[in-house]
Amino acid sequence: MLLAVWAGTVQGSILLTGPKSDLISENRLVSRLLLVKWESMTKALTLFLLGVAALAGCGGGTSNPGGNPADKAAGKKIKIGFAMDTLKEERWQRDKDAFEAHCGKMNVECVITVADNKADKQANDVENLLTQGIDVLVIAPHDATQAASMVDKAKAQNVPVISYDRLINSDKIDLYISHQVPVIGRKIAEYALKNKPSGKYVMVYGASTDNNAVIMKKEQLEVLQSAIDKKEIQIVAQDFITDWKPELALNFAENALTQNSDKVDAFVVSNDGMAGGVVSALAKRGLAGKVLVTGQDAALDALQRIAAGTQTMTVYKPIIPLASGAVEAAIKLAKKEKLDTTPFRNDALGKEIPAILLEVTTVDRSNLMDTVIKDGYAKYEDVYKDVSEADRPKRP
Ligand code: GAL
Repeated sequence: MLLAVWAGTVQGSILLTGPKSDLISENRLVSRLLLVKWESMTKALTLFLLGVAALAGCGGGTSNPGGNPADKAAGKKIKIGFAMDTLKEERWQRDKDAFEAHCGKMNVECVITVADNKADKQANDVENLLTQGIDVLVIAPHDATQAASMVDKAKAQNVPVISYDRLINSDKIDLYISHQVPVIGRKIAEYALKNKPSGKYVMVYGASTDNNAVIMKKEQLEVLQSAIDKKEIQIVAQDFITDWKPELALNFAENALTQNSDKVDAFVVSNDGMAGGVVSALAKRGLAGKVLVTGQDAALDALQRIAAGTQTMTVYKPIIPLASGAVEAAIKLAKKEKLDTTPFRNDALGKEIPAILLEVTTVDRSNLMDTVIKDGYAKYEDVYKDVSEADRPKRP
């Protein structure tokens, strides 16, 4: 809840500040002539700022030019490079927006690159960022192992590195900031087991190159193990899905259904994008809403499926606290200040990594209103768009 309040505050402050609205409210009685003058001045100022932004922007990335130019001239302004993997899932667009917004708020510059799910592009992106004189490098890695060489390059230039959302297999990173990935894995499996204590399970894991998928698989299987041993549940199919692709999850679900004569009781799916693919496969056979389907991310289309009853649950990970936390940690690293972290064991390395891991919430039909809608993460009318007025809960 504390995180939710923080998220709300950050969002609120961004929405509420605006020189134009302040000025107009303070000058309600000023003549229309002055107002017109203000409008044209604002336009001119906007054009000027856009020009400055274009000049300040660095090739291959988006740049946040906000803040006091004097700082930059004096060489004081901190510059953060953020090498993202993808913007495909809705959550990553939120990460990008929140990251940029918080950089603006903290008066630091950020340069963001997106690798489009390509490890080689991300390696190039990082090299480019390092030539741009960044003070800190933040990476949401495409490939956990391959990204270790990017960490080496940054560290060779004394640039601290933050592993963002996904854990990089390097013991040289200064910080791993994410949500509680093991807890996400456990919550998903516990939910499935509680609601389908017996029957046939299909496990749809994320990308094998992404530690989040690997950690979640491990935790999910640990939760399910005793029910498997007691032969209460049976895993009839399981696989990692390349790049978390919804269309590949759809194919995988279709095959699993065919091989089991449509008799599958639960699809334990590791994110909402793939859950969308699984629900499409079920819908083709008239089974949507009859089989348990899990997810992760609280993506709007998943929330709509949950409201409509075709997806059973998701895991809500507030993004603003993650992105803001990463920006603030980056600033501290740039200033060589100490971070408040707890150790997290990277199983692939057998080593402990300094980490900040944020809380997550299970969301199903019963608590849509009290979680994502209450937090302002999604809007009531969007979430219930496919639900008839009569079947909707009371509007907040
Ligand atoms: C994971 C992330 C999920 C999901 C997925 C696909 O690493 O934890 O939230 O978005 O990537 O990009």
